[in-house]
Amino acid sequence: MDTTSWPGIGIFGAGKVGITLARLALDAGYTVHIASSGPAADTARLTRYFAPGAVAANAEDLALLADILILAVPLHRFTELPLATMGDHIVIDAMNYWPPINGVMSEFETDGRASSMVVRDALPQTARLVKTFNHLGYHQLEELPRPAGSPDRTALAIAGDDTDAVQTVADLVTHVGFDPLPAGPLAASKAMEAGAAAFGQQLDIDQLRHLMGLDQAA
Ligand SMILES: NC(=O)c1ccc[n+]([C@@H]2O[C@H](COP(=O)([O-])OP(=O)(O)OC[C@H]3O[C@@H](n4cnc5c(N)ncnc54)[C@H](OP(=O)(O)O)[C@@H]3O)[C@@H](O)[C@H]2O)c1
Repeated sequence: MDTTSWPGIGIFGAGKVGITLARLALDAGYTVHIASSGPAADTARLTRYFAPGAVAANAEDLALLADILILAVPLHRFTELPLATMGDHIVIDAMNYWPPINGVMSEFETDGRASSMVVRDALPQTARLVKTFNHLGYHQLEELPRPAGSPDRTALAIAGDDTDAVQTVADLVTHVGFDPLPAGPLAASKAMEAGAAAFGQQLDIDQLRHLMGLDQAA
């Protein structure tokens, strides 16, 4: 497959999810840059062993190096990211609000909206935010990818307000080994959050559509 025209992937976070997504994207044929909170040289020590082929970068440079940015940092550290650099990008929110990890964050406790709506409000208005990759554990993301058409292919829900951005992310999800399930606008991503029925479920696309009540909407 000719992957030369595929968008470049930039991942904020070289932890469990960031490294896993880096490996999946590299295996699919994407170019991957990845950053942690430290200098690129520190991240390179990780990628050399855990995601060979991923190019370590400083977080402030990532938007210059990639077309699709993935937020894979703990939510309580998200505002440390260079948010102002993300205005021209499709940004994937793979983060979850989970108080045992994040602590109690009042903005997510009191805002009744999906956490991604709060995240979106912190980004430049021109950034196109899409939610996905958050509702499976990193070990599931690692183990469940299958080629398109496999009978046991797992589905990932995708929510976003920009149709083109959702389609581009759906292509990414397909290429890395999952069936993308359009789950509606970003507001609907509440149904993908920690504690929602779909969270952590290994389901095919029909099962996930049914669980999320999307077959009634179709
Ligand atoms: N764990 C899962 O199974 C899972 C599944 C789906 C979604 N998620 C979500 O994915 C996100 C990451 O989870 P994780 O389990 O991968 O966390 P993790 O293993 O603790 O890794 C977090 C990564 O974020 C980096 N980071 C923190 N602050 C940063 C900053 N300001 N700039 C750049 N990088 C920064 C950390 O770098 P340093 O070490 O340099 O601080 C580390 O590489 C969370 O929001 C989580 O809710 C997790």
